[in-house]
Amino acid sequence: MNFTILRFDSIDSTNTEALNQAKQGADEGLCIVAKQQTAGRGRHGRTWISEKDAGLYFSLVLRPTIENKFLPLLTLMCAVAVYDVLRELYKLKPDIKWANDIHIDEKKICGILAEMTETKRGLAVIVGIGINLKSSNFPLELEAIATSVEQEINQEIDADELLENLTKHLAKYYQILESENGAEKIRREWANRSTYYRGKNVTVKLENESVTGTTRGLEESGALRIETENGEIKIIHAGEVERLRKI
Ligand code: BTN
Repeated sequence: MNFTILRFDSIDSTNTEALNQAKQGADEGLCIVAKQQTAGRGRHGRTWISEKDAGLYFSLVLRPTIENKFLPLLTLMCAVAVYDVLRELYKLKPDIKWANDIHIDEKKICGILAEMTETKRGLAVIVGIGINLKSSNFPLELEAIATSVEQEINQEIDADELLENLTKHLAKYYQILESENGAEKIRREWANRSTYYRGKNVTVKLENESVTGTTRGLEESGALRIETENGEIKIIHAGEVERLRKI
């Protein structure tokens, strides 16, 4: 993939900009990077706090050719790429919480938001990645549940080096996903990096209900299989997964 990087000092949301650019015909590989976001977006309509230089705020335009049923694997693929970068560059020990949150010691360090849009050139998928670099500006409610690269390694981060490595890994795993049996390969890479893959006791909050049980691997599409107490397998396509702790 050829990357074109467009940098902004401040922007509402790199995902919104990437969506607009994709609608206007941008090529696959366009990256929008900003030092600050004034309206950073998280999943489920939440805000992604994006103080200046406190995180890597990055969105990539993709024009995937994989079957539609495999599109959710794009976010799993991004999680795998971020996982590898954090390990290789900073020697961190991440975990991927289904589907695509990256945690260090159960604190969130990275979130991923994938969005789709129809364009004149066909379907485009925007993958937005936010990696916390600094914790100093975390609001109180985040302190207990989030961490940052600087907090973990006590060192200043070179955001350009991080970006360069991230794009390399994204290109690698995207190529794998688009290759023969790519979906299976990405599921395997994800499974090797996530303790949520099998045997984890979780509660998943869905819109109107929650499902409690033990994780039992992934469906073809990347959906999570959960075995409930009465032995039923529930397939989770989206929702907030919470690890159940023993009291
Ligand atoms: C989540 O809720 O975990 C997903 C957070 C995704 C945040 C990133 S930061 C770059 C990109 N632009 C956005 O507005 N959101 C994503």
